[in-house]
Order: sequence, then structure tokens, then C-alpha cells
Amino acid sequence: MVPNLTGQVIMVTGANSGIGKVTARELAAMGATVVMVVRSRERGEAALAEIKQQVSQADVRLMLCDLSAQADIHRFAAEFKATYDRLDVLVNNAGAYLQKRQESVDGLEMTLALNHMGYFLLTSLLLDLLLASAPARIVNVSSDAHRSRPVNFGDLQRKKRYSGFGTYGESKLMNIMFTFELARRLAGTGVTVNALHPGFVRTNFGRNNNGLMNSLFMPLVQRFALNEEEGAATSIYLASSPEVAGVTGQYFVKKQPVRAVDYAYDEAAQQQLWAVSEALLKPVASPPAGAVFPVS
Ligand SMILES: NC(=O)c1ccc[n+]([C@@H]2O[C@H](COP(=O)([O-])OP(=O)(O)OC[C@H]3O[C@@H](n4cnc5c(N)ncnc54)[C@H](OP(=O)(O)O)[C@@H]3O)[C@@H](O)[C@H]2O)c1
Repeated sequence: MVPNLTGQVIMVTGANSGIGKVTARELAAMGATVVMVVRSRERGEAALAEIKQQVSQADVRLMLCDLSAQADIHRFAAEFKATYDRLDVLVNNAGAYLQKRQESVDGLEMTLALNHMGYFLLTSLLLDLLLASAPARIVNVSSDAHRSRPVNFGDLQRKKRYSGFGTYGESKLMNIMFTFELARRLAGTGVTVNALHPGFVRTNFGRNNNGLMNSLFMPLVQRFALNEEEGAATSIYLASSPEVAGVTGQYFVKKQPVRAVDYAYDEAAQQQLWAVSEALLKPVASPPAGAVFPVS
């Protein structure tokens, strides 16, 4: 049976493309008010128009945020809270693979800044609203690429040695470690948090890179990939299904909880990641009330 999400406010990041766009569309089709978080107004408006054309009654709105830039995440979270008095589901989905090392405006390695710190900071800033809206859910889109290697805390910024795949895999491992640690911190609050692998999906993923990666490799391998609907299925399931109400601290593949790589369960490493992530947060002039993980 399709869940009825009328009355729920759901946020999907990276919702103008790929898995995020289908997730936003399907949750809107179930009756939710869906806030699509995008960095480009133009791409966002095109996706919004497409969703409205496909789902005539869709209540979808657009909000802009560069999720690799901490000041912009602060601005956006404040704007969201000024507009909405509840948040039932947060889907952290925006992410990227970067073949060459880049830095964010905050001077962090870009994959780390977007794929991990973007999830960490946005969740932190919205946590009071999620807690006030409980039962509420956080869904973190990770990847089976997390299995490649443990987090290298000695060179988190990848200044010594950068590899696109290694750095991406590490950021997706951080998504899972963050999920497990946050689930423990949120135990008993009614806010659940789970991570997932969407499968290998034919999207714009990796197309932001120049050269062979974009022109040859991705088109070639993506011929064997899932379509976007198949790729969004587990995100939609975790965001909406009554079957997983109350389920927390799990890693899902194909709508099933599966075991992540062993080192994702290392609680000391999860806590270390948490501490270094807090240390990477840039100071803000006046921190908003309730921000930065008030749950001990
Ligand atoms: N595709 C796969 O096979 C696969 C496999 C495993 C996991 N995943 C994960 O699935 C998630 C979605 O990826 P996808 O495959 O749907 O790729 P996609 O089509 O490239 O979508 C990524 C989304 O993230 C947004 N984004 C990138 N940088 C951003 C920033 N600085 N601020 C705000 N938004 C930003 C993109 O916006 P723009 O359009 O403006 O760039 C886009 O909307 C990612 O977390 C990825 O790691 C994908």
C-alpha cells in the first residue's frame, strides 16, 4: 500500500537531478510537502517544472543552498526554519565524485566538505526541528563504495595523496559512521536515522568531471546501471514506509538492512569522526538556538 504523507514536510537535498529528483517526486506524489534543496536556481526550476508536470497535485518548493559552503548552510537552515514549523523527514542526498582535488570556500577538501560535512552540518542545524516533529526520520544516501578503506584521520584533507575513488569511498563511509553514531545519540527521541546504498544508478553522477571519466568511462559503465526510479527506491522506502517506522542505525541495500564494512561499526572511530567534524565547523557570528547536536 502506498503511504499517505499528507501533512508531512520533507526535505530532499540534491533534488534537481538523478536519485534526489525521483525521491522528491515520489514523496510529493504520496502527498508530502517536499522542499527541494538545490544549488542552481535554473536547474532547480527545470526539475520543479518537470515534477509538477508529472504529478499534477505535487506540493514541491525550491530552496537554494550550496551544501559545500558552511555559511550558506547556516543561511539556508535559518531561512527554512523561518518558513516551516516542522520537518518530518530529511533526506541527505546531494553528493559528488571529484576526480581532481578541489577545495571548498571553507578551505576543506571538496568531497569531504560536500559529502560528509554537508550532511553533518545540515542535520545538526535542523535537529531541533526534527526532534520537535518526532516521529521523524533522517535518511543518509551513502554507497557501497564505502567498503574501499577505513577513514584516514591522518590526512583527512587528502593533501598528501588524493585519489577520486578513495576519497569518495571514504566520504561515503563517513556517512555510515555518522549515521550509526547519530542513531545512538538519538535513541529514544523518536527521530530515526538510517543510511543506504542506492545501487549503481544511471544519473548525472561523475559527469561533473572532465576528460575520459565523463566522455568515455561513465557512459560506458552506466549502460549496465539501474535507472533513476530503481535507484531512488530505497531512499523512498526509508523516508516513507511504515515498515521501517522506529528502525534506526541501519545500513540498507535494496530495502533490506545489510552489514556495512566491519570498520564502520568501530565506535571509537565514529566518535573520532564526530569530534573532528565538530572541529571542522567554522565559527559563526551568532549560532542559532538549538544548533549543533544538542542531544548528548
Ligand atoms: N549514481 C550512483 O550510481 C550512486 C551510487 C551510490 C551512491 N550514490 C549517491 O547518490 C547520491 C545522489 O547522486 P546521483 O547519482 O543522483 O547523482 P547526480 O544526478 O549527480 O545528483 C547529485 C545532486 O547533488 C547536487 N549537488 C552537487 N554538489 C552540490 C552542492 N555543492 N550543493 C548542493 N547540491 C549539490 C547536484 O546538483 P547539480 O545538478 O547542481 O550538480 C545534484 O542535484 C549521492 O550522494 C551519491 O554519492 C550514487
